[in-house]
This record gives sequence, structure tokens and C-alpha cells, in this order.
Amino acid sequence: MKILGIETSCDETAASVVEDGHLVLSNVIASQIDLHAKTGGVVPEVAAREHVLKMLPVIDEALGNFGFDDLDAIAVTKGPGLISSLIIGTETASVISCVKEIRLIEVQHIVGHIYSNWLNVAEPIEFPILVLTVSGGHNELILMKGHGEFEVLGETLDDAAGEAFDKVARLLDLGYPGGPIISRIAVSGDEKAFKLPRAWLSQGSLDFSFSGLKTAVLDLVKNTVAARGILSAKFKADVSASFQEAVCEILATKLMMAYEKFPQIKELHLAGGVSANLRLRELIEEKIAIFKIKVKFRYPRDLKFCTDNAAMIAAAGYHLYKKNPKAHKRLANVVPSANYAL
Ligand code: KG4
Ligand code: ZN
Repeated sequence: MKILGIETSCDETAASVVEDGHLVLSNVIASQIDLHAKTGGVVPEVAAREHVLKMLPVIDEALGNFGFDDLDAIAVTKGPGLISSLIIGTETASVISCVKEIRLIEVQHIVGHIYSNWLNVAEPIEFPILVLTVSGGHNELILMKGHGEFEVLGETLDDAAGEAFDKVARLLDLGYPGGPIISRIAVSGDEKAFKLPRAWLSQGSLDFSFSGLKTAVLDLVKNTVAARGILSAKFKADVSASFQEAVCEILATKLMMAYEKFPQIKELHLAGGVSANLRLRELIEEKIAIFKIKVKFRYPRDLKFCTDNAAMIAAAGYHLYKKNPKAHKRLANVVPSANYAL
């Protein structure tokens, strides 16, 4: 079954054709990073205008030699995300569905990220799965009992981890998006240079909070500027390493705390933009080894599947369709929703 995925929830215009929910036949992503680097973050109106320009060429490229008649369905991100960005993807998908009479499947963006772990994986993935989704816009611990069956065990009370990476990069004047830059600079820094706070919240809580950590970095930066006038390259590297260590320690520890509550878990999955972070992957692997846990640990096979892409939306669409074929109609219309819940 070939599905065309379409994703426009934030600042990537993406389309992809995926076969049977895992085999990626094409994966086209038009990134707006250069456009938003100038403003240090995404300006919704600017993002939406760029989606309008890129949507059809990106779909054209993703289809390659396939025509719409070769498709069994279209899957599109309904939300959450920037409403003006979402609407470009959902309108395009709805028009194609109506004109070409193709089945249309709406996908929740975080569910899409969860299915990035199925991409280009041939072997069966075993349930139940504990998923840590970490992106710029979301941060959850999710118990996945089967396809399309999700229970949120914990979530962020304020910023998502990726958002914290982006804001700290901005404080250090490092550029956008912050995650990849901070993780690169952190390699030459000392993670013990600054003692930054870790918000564990109430005992046993599986929720997250990164606003205190962000404020601690803000204070550190302000005090250093007041004392020295400039931020040296060494200071930036040490703050990056100390900050990254604090975020990764919280994420990895909370994942293990959740595992302790559900020892029947067969697999641990990491998904979302921050799943590209090598230190986070390493820390989780270390904890699995220390606690001698017998689980399969997965993160997306390709860095391109960590951040926003349409292949994950097509994969999610396939499994949602298989679970309930009658729910997804031809000649359908998907209305975007900025706060579409899991
Ligand atoms: O999943 P994604 O593309 O968009 C959302 O759904 O939000 O995630 C983007 C986020 C950004 O905040 C970016 O800074 C972060 O993922 N990110 C990283 C890394 N690569 C991307 N964070 C930490 N380390 C990375 N290597
Ligand atoms: Zn995302």
C-alpha cells in the first residue's frame, strides 16, 4: 500500500511516499531554516507564505515517476502546530483527495513522530512500547500498547526540551535551530563547568519542566556579561555542555523511571527532533546497560527522520488505516487544528 505523506506543521514543507508503513520510497523536505535564522525563530506568517510556494513542487518531487493513480491514500498532519502552516498542507491534501478521489487520513503530529521508528525497519516492532517524544513543540512520555493506542504518562509543564535548546542557543547568540549547534559546541565543553538545576518535580513524577533551567542559564549569561563584557568561546562551550547534560539527564532518568513502573515494556523508543542528540542516546544506552534491562532501544534510523518529515506521517497513516479502514474516506476534507490532542 503506497501512501503520500504531507507535513507542514511548522517550518518544513515535506512530502514522502512510503510503502506498507515502513519502506521509504521518497522523502523530500524543503527546510526554511535559513529564512528563520535571521529572526532567531519561526515567524508564522513567513512560514505559511513559504509553504504556499514550496508545497506543490515538493509533492511533485516526492511523487517522482508515480502518479496520483498509483497512490492508495494520502496522510496529512492535522495538528498540533502553527495553524497558518497546517492549513497549507491540509487544504492541499483535501483538494487532491476530492479531485482524484483518493482516501485521506488525518494524522496527529506527535503520533507521526512516534511512527518515525518504523521507517526503513523491516523486522516486527514489539508492543508494549515506552516512547519518549522530544521536540521543539512537545515533550511526552507515552505508553503505546498497540497501533494507535497511546497513554500519556507524563508531559512538560512549560517548555519542551527542544524549545529550551533553541532558547539557550539564542541567549548564547549561537543561531537557530539551537539543538544541533549546542550539541556540536558541547563536544569541546566541560559538562561539569556549571552546576545547573534539574527539575525532578514531585517524587515519582513523569512530567518535565525546563523553564527553571532556562532561567538559570539566562542569569549565568547576564552575570558573565556584567562581569566580563563578552561571552568567550570557552564559556559558550562549557554552558552548552552543562546545559545539554542537565536536559539529557532529566530525559534519560524519567524514561527509566517510567520503565520501572511498566516492566512488561518490550521496547524503548526515542522520537522527535531532540532524538538526534547523540549524548541523549548515549545516556539512555548507559542506563540500559547499568540496570541490565532487556529491552530493544530504538531511535529513528536516519537523522532526517528525527526532525519534521512527511515519511513519518505516511507511516502513521498506514497503521491508522489498517486499524480502522472504514474511518478514512475518499473525497474527504481535513480541517487543521492547532491544539489537536494525542
Ligand atoms: O521534531 P522537530 O523537527 O519539530 C517539532 O515538532 O517541534 O524538532 C525540532 C527541535 C528543535 O527545537 C531543535 O533544536 C531540536 O529539535 N533538535 C535538537 C537536535 N537536533 C534538532 N536538539 C538537541 N540536539 C540535537 N542534535
Ligand atoms: Zn515535530
